[in-house]
Amino acid sequence: MRGDNRRETWGTKIGLILALAGNAIGIGNFLRFPVQAAQNGGGAFMIPYFVALILMGVPLMWVECAIGRMGGRHGHGHTAGMFGLLWRHRYAKYLGILGLVIPFTIALYYIYITGWTLAYGYFSLTGNYFGVTSREAMGAYLRGFQGVESNQYFSGAGAAYVFFLITLALSMYIIYHGVRGGIETLAKVAMPVLFLIGIALMIRVLTLGTPDLNYPDRNVLNGLGFVWNPQPERLTDASIWLAAAGQIFFTLSIGAGCIPTYASYMREEDDVALTGLSTVSLNELAEVVLGGTIAITAAVVFFGLAETQAIAKGGAFNLGFQALPLIFQQIPLGHLFGALWFLLLFLAAVTSVVALTQPVMALLQDGFGWSRWKATCVLLGGVFIMSQPVIFLLKHGFLDELDFWVGSFGLVLFALIEAILFAWVFGMEHGWAEITKGAAIPVPRLFYYVIKYVTPLFLLFILVAWAIQDVPSKIFMVGVNPEDVPYLWGARLMMIAILVGFGLLVSAAASRKGEGGTR
Ligand code: TRP
Repeated sequence: MRGDNRRETWGTKIGLILALAGNAIGIGNFLRFPVQAAQNGGGAFMIPYFVALILMGVPLMWVECAIGRMGGRHGHGHTAGMFGLLWRHRYAKYLGILGLVIPFTIALYYIYITGWTLAYGYFSLTGNYFGVTSREAMGAYLRGFQGVESNQYFSGAGAAYVFFLITLALSMYIIYHGVRGGIETLAKVAMPVLFLIGIALMIRVLTLGTPDLNYPDRNVLNGLGFVWNPQPERLTDASIWLAAAGQIFFTLSIGAGCIPTYASYMREEDDVALTGLSTVSLNELAEVVLGGTIAITAAVVFFGLAETQAIAKGGAFNLGFQALPLIFQQIPLGHLFGALWFLLLFLAAVTSVVALTQPVMALLQDGFGWSRWKATCVLLGGVFIMSQPVIFLLKHGFLDELDFWVGSFGLVLFALIEAILFAWVFGMEHGWAEITKGAAIPVPRLFYYVIKYVTPLFLLFILVAWAIQDVPSKIFMVGVNPEDVPYLWGARLMMIAILVGFGLLVSAAASRKGEGGTR
């Protein structure tokens, strides 16, 4: 390692935890979670959800923090370098490139969606969508905004594009200011503000009562019951388990390389056990308490149970971008509450955007010795160019294709590789020593066995179930509009190009450092 390029570290312990919380807490908590819960039977979903949290979420958070801290000690901020420490083999680094491909590819669409939240915050303040009062019309408004159709509200994706550029510029500005000056500073402001807004919105929703006395069952209690009453008979449905596990991965940012990169900026004496557990706890607080209350309960109160389920079936954004804007028009101070809701989403999202782009920064800085300025410029260029098809081919399902392979399937695949390398190749004795070294809390010994046996088996089970249930119809594009097929192939080609591109970069970085070097 070159001595002139000392790696950064987090400034404070609380900064580290808030940065990791900012990484994990995102759109997934406030839009994806309520929709997944509503689509998969409400309370029935929560049992597999918590099982997946304990048997995969918490253990993998510890594993990823441990791998990351160890990597940072050896000057590696991305999983390709880190995997070479777990498995001293020339090919180990190529297993780790998924930890660059996955976050980079997710960033291509996550940034665009983050721009939507900013735009809708602005539209709430200015009252742009006020007067659009039916669900159908609000759907048309959203599709017009996204450029999916041209209508009386929007004649193309121009507005969405402007907010995309603002979001991209802002994220790169933060990234350029580095781990401590950029990401940590942002998290220290954004996370407390996010929780304050979340609590305010939750209180507002919980005091909605029964606004329409013609529909006495449209009330707050029924909204909460929708998430919390378990329906045990649905537990044998494999698709609920897949959905729950997928949500745990996405919401905790695990299985992507984002957590190891953040953990690589820990100091040697920072602990993994409490840091990991705090991250998970903050994320679950935001997800289950705030995310589970705000959107779903509000929708049940205004639209009723059946209708809420129907809204959720329409897709991940219908609850947040269609149902809630209708509600804001019906409550006092609706402009303000609308702006707060979308500001909440934006703060959650932007702290995840910088997490999604930092692994590539780490590759360019640690692997090639580039300055932050140069690395940021190259990253910006790459993201900008490759997000164009995501934006302009949205209506052909380009974004969804990336999201399935990378944002769902890829996370579980990468987590399985990681778990096997950690517990079986590196060895659970060494692994356990890494997790518990300097630990600020005792880690129950039970987790030694969970990480060694249960987590990998659970991951394998999910991957196989997925491969049988969803993957074949995805691969062969069953039910896809024939017109969209070439675009989906385009998305696949782009993913393959990204994979090959990072393979070449990782290989170049390795030969630059001198292959087989002892560090
Ligand atoms: N966890 C974030 C959310 O809930 C998004 C995110 C950041 C993410 N990094 C990730 C998702 C890595 C998957 C993988 O919105």
